[in-house]
Amino acid sequence: MSLPPFSFLSRRSFLQASTAASAALALRVVTEPMLAYAALPDHSPSHPKDAVLINANENPLGPSAAAREAITAVTPQSGRYLRELADELSTLFAQSVGVTGEQVSIFAGSTEPLTFTVRAFCSPHASYVTADPGFEGGLFAADRAGARVVRVPLTKTYAHDVKAMLAAAPDAGVFYICQPNNPTGTLTSPSDIEYLVENKPKNSIVLVDEAYIHFSDAPSAIELVKAGKDVIVLRTFSKIYGMAGLRCGFAIARPELLDKLHNYGGYNFMPVTAVAAASASLKDPQLLADRKRTNTQVRAETFAWLDRNGYSYVPSVANFFLLDTKHPAKEVIAAMAQQNVIIGRVWPAMPTYSRITVGTGAEMEQFQMAWQKVMKG
Ligand SMILES: Cc1ncc(COP(=O)(O)O)c(C=O)c1O
Repeated sequence: MSLPPFSFLSRRSFLQASTAASAALALRVVTEPMLAYAALPDHSPSHPKDAVLINANENPLGPSAAAREAITAVTPQSGRYLRELADELSTLFAQSVGVTGEQVSIFAGSTEPLTFTVRAFCSPHASYVTADPGFEGGLFAADRAGARVVRVPLTKTYAHDVKAMLAAAPDAGVFYICQPNNPTGTLTSPSDIEYLVENKPKNSIVLVDEAYIHFSDAPSAIELVKAGKDVIVLRTFSKIYGMAGLRCGFAIARPELLDKLHNYGGYNFMPVTAVAAASASLKDPQLLADRKRTNTQVRAETFAWLDRNGYSYVPSVANFFLLDTKHPAKEVIAAMAQQNVIIGRVWPAMPTYSRITVGTGAEMEQFQMAWQKVMKG
């Protein structure tokens, strides 16, 4: 069986593809795993079974016990579309974040609504404004929309520089804020996000991607949606809920903003297993706190080890962090793969850093052993 063409992402020619290829790629949703695997030397998602996979910000714990039970329970009925289950989940999710059912829209993950938002609000006259380094998912959509892409360096504390973002793009269609930011795992203050929302050009929107927010103590920008602002918030079940392979996420915004997204990728039937697992996860009162505690603990232990051994990293509040390899990071990624530890990609703005996902305690011990070998070798 042939593998998905992850390599297309790593070729510059992607952006100058033939007309036929351009048409085929026009609506392509470019996800984290595509980017993660495109960065590997062979672009291949196939590794030895015992490889440590800390390259795509996945959650090694997978779905919760309740979510697994819900998947098993729903499977016999999954010959049917069961739209009512997705409607129930949407209602449950809306209640859990304090908005109305009309203010949420369900998708198979949050990369889809990210892509559709950029397609809906960016154009040759409405630019896409993002942080550098930042998550690249929206860049491809912006390119397909013919929009100018404006990359604005993060501040010295790795926050989004909202004033510089505003100054750089009076023609903005979308300001993309990732909270915490991928790949740095750092936060932007709520007051800066509010400043951006209050001072942005009319007709533009602020897209706040909260894929990793549950790992941090940051307040949600959903409050700005409740206040009626031009804000779209994205949430996913791929990260703290451990459901990346199941696919479930939400966009949260005023209904008329959600309608615009729907023109580029409207309602589709959800995998019922994902819906059942997401509902069970939301009903579990302990899940978020338990997983946040586990991640915080393993991350702190890893940082303490890095400190003791004199390695530098960007202090992160998420389930990943940037680690300085002090070399061209691509070479270190290849050397770590030789040790059966697959670490994450490099951003051009920080070419000696690799993004490391926080795995289990045991995985991070394997990472530490491999890292010492590679650094000393
Ligand atoms: C910043 C960011 N946003 C959104 C996503 C969405 O992922 P998914 O489509 O699995 O929900 C990811 C995945 O890694 C991400 O890193």
